[in-house]
Amino acid sequence: MSFPATRMRRLRATESLRALVRETSLTAECLVAPIFVCHGEGVSRPIASMPGHAQISVDLAVEKAKKLASLGVGGLILFGIPAKKDPEGSEAYDPQGIVPRAFRAIKAAEPELLLWADVCLCEYTDHGHCGVVRDGAVDNDRTLPLLARASVVYAEAGADVIAPSDMMDGRVGAIRRALDAAGRLETPIVAYSAKYASSFYGPFREAAESAPRFGDRRGYQMDPANSDEALREVALDLEEGADLVMVKPALPYLDVIRRVKDRFQVPVVAYNVSGEFAMVKAAAQMGWLDGERAALESLTSIRRAGADVIITYFAEEIAPLLGRKKS
Ligand code: PBG
Repeated sequence: MSFPATRMRRLRATESLRALVRETSLTAECLVAPIFVCHGEGVSRPIASMPGHAQISVDLAVEKAKKLASLGVGGLILFGIPAKKDPEGSEAYDPQGIVPRAFRAIKAAEPELLLWADVCLCEYTDHGHCGVVRDGAVDNDRTLPLLARASVVYAEAGADVIAPSDMMDGRVGAIRRALDAAGRLETPIVAYSAKYASSFYGPFREAAESAPRFGDRRGYQMDPANSDEALREVALDLEEGADLVMVKPALPYLDVIRRVKDRFQVPVVAYNVSGEFAMVKAAAQMGWLDGERAALESLTSIRRAGADVIITYFAEEIAPLLGRKKS
């Protein structure tokens, strides 16, 4: 039956009807908030390209965690700014490093809040690459033990979830074996499985001071033109023991999120990255669009594409709106 018996507009007439038939939900619990932690006390260094975000010291990170927990946000993911960088990225796996310190403090203050550890060397290496460099290239196999070591250090400091973002082959298996050997059988791994070599990481590299000093990451991160390859990456990570898989960035790769969700019956995470956040903020500051509505629409579309969980810099400002059925 078509028009005039069928009128699609009937179910759009009021907010109550729209809410009744809404297919996709967005809740605070499905959002994970990234936080940049640095050494010192009372330190807050704003990040120019990410309005509202700053590098903050552990004491302020604890306050931030309390606020996020009170808003019902699903968790937070930590990125560290080390005291000093070296070729092997040693602060990444130092139990006294900035991230383990922050985990211990936050866990003590807010035990229920889910804490995610991003595992990568790029914030800690002086050359800015995600692994150890040998003869001008990132050495996959020499990097694996360091990632595994960092994962165990973070789990022991209080991280609930280990999320490797380095894109080395075999790292999920190496990390799973190391966690198990340390008695951390119950610690889940979220693999950044389909992580693309993206221009949308620009603001993050300012925030985390992690831009590569030479070359780029195309030798280990994925080519934006590929999506069959993303399915292979996901399949391999699941075989190696990943519990959740991730697609990153989110908005330019909604098709990849959907393919992964349709193919594998596992929880899917999408990372709504720094550049996606910065674009909305910049346009909103110019008065060119409504930033709040654009953020809600972006996050809803990522959920609609098939993501169960979204890592997003909008978490803190959007969580309070989610009860209001605004879309
Ligand atoms: C570390 C890492 C990066 C991001 C998350 N983990 C940067 C990169 O690969 O250069 C980017 C996150 C963002 O842009 O918000 N490897």
